[in-house]
Amino acid sequence: MKKDLLTLLDLTKSDCDILFKRAIELKKRRKKGIRETLLSGKTLGLIFDKPSTRTRVSFETALIQLGGTPIFINSKDTQISRDEPVMDTARVLSRYLDCLAIRTFSQDLLEGFATSATIPVINALTDLYHPTQVLSDLMTIIEYKGGYEGLKIAWVGDGNNVSHSWINAAATLGLDLVLACPEGYYPNTAILKRALDIGVGSIRVISDPIEAVQEADVIYTDVWASMGQESEHIARKKVFKAYQVNRELVRHARNDAIVMHCLPAHRGEEISEELMDSPLPVIWDQSENKMHMNKAILEALMTNP
Ligand code: CP
Ligand code: NVA
Repeated sequence: MKKDLLTLLDLTKSDCDILFKRAIELKKRRKKGIRETLLSGKTLGLIFDKPSTRTRVSFETALIQLGGTPIFINSKDTQISRDEPVMDTARVLSRYLDCLAIRTFSQDLLEGFATSATIPVINALTDLYHPTQVLSDLMTIIEYKGGYEGLKIAWVGDGNNVSHSWINAAATLGLDLVLACPEGYYPNTAILKRALDIGVGSIRVISDPIEAVQEADVIYTDVWASMGQESEHIARKKVFKAYQVNRELVRHARNDAIVMHCLPAHRGEEISEELMDSPLPVIWDQSENKMHMNKAILEALMTNP
């Protein structure tokens, strides 16, 4: 594997398959009560510029359960907030830590960190991507469907950071991905072009959610206004009204289709209250699997030769 995980294009299909297998194995071992010590004595720094419940806690617990120690760093409490250059911070933190997970706004800032750091850097979400989320979501799909090959995955909603990581996953793994987004809210053109140029899998962007979910095995949605877009929330609610994932929309998909959401959800907006509270536990398994996948990612990066 490469030193850093900044986008899913940093991984090959074989890297991803190894991560899926290992995450599923680590999950089974955890359920059997097996204690892991693989990353004993190792430290992970988590620098977060945006809020987080799942990603932060799942990375922290992942490392603790592998024998290591996470250190949460609120960048406002560090000299980053007083303009210490990123390259200096990255060099210094590389002397203390074994790995860094960063959640921030700018992908360029993250990449600057990774260039200057001598330790692995993980993208824990930027405005452009959320690669660890989609890796754990694919793990969940494998658990429910037995694999990801030949499945139709329908994204319904905003062409945002999570959708970009799905686009990269499609190009890396050869997925059949259809994204239904309102015009003006399509995924980033450069990200889409790069993925299409790879020429693997099928990636289509349309604006009709019903067409997108026809025969879909997986329906995926996310918030209409991401972190940093709070001021657009009211306007976006009007634009995205027809893009709610609800029982009526799901009716057009395959009978055994699963509905996924990375969370946090706005019930009654991108997903109906009814679907959130349906007896199908997929969304909660998705959240749990973030921890198991993060273990596999940390192990792979922190024991990389
Ligand atoms: N899905 C996800 O990344 O959630 P958090 O924002 O709570 O980390
Ligand atoms: N698109 C969302 C994902 C949250 C996990 C956001 O960036 O806020």
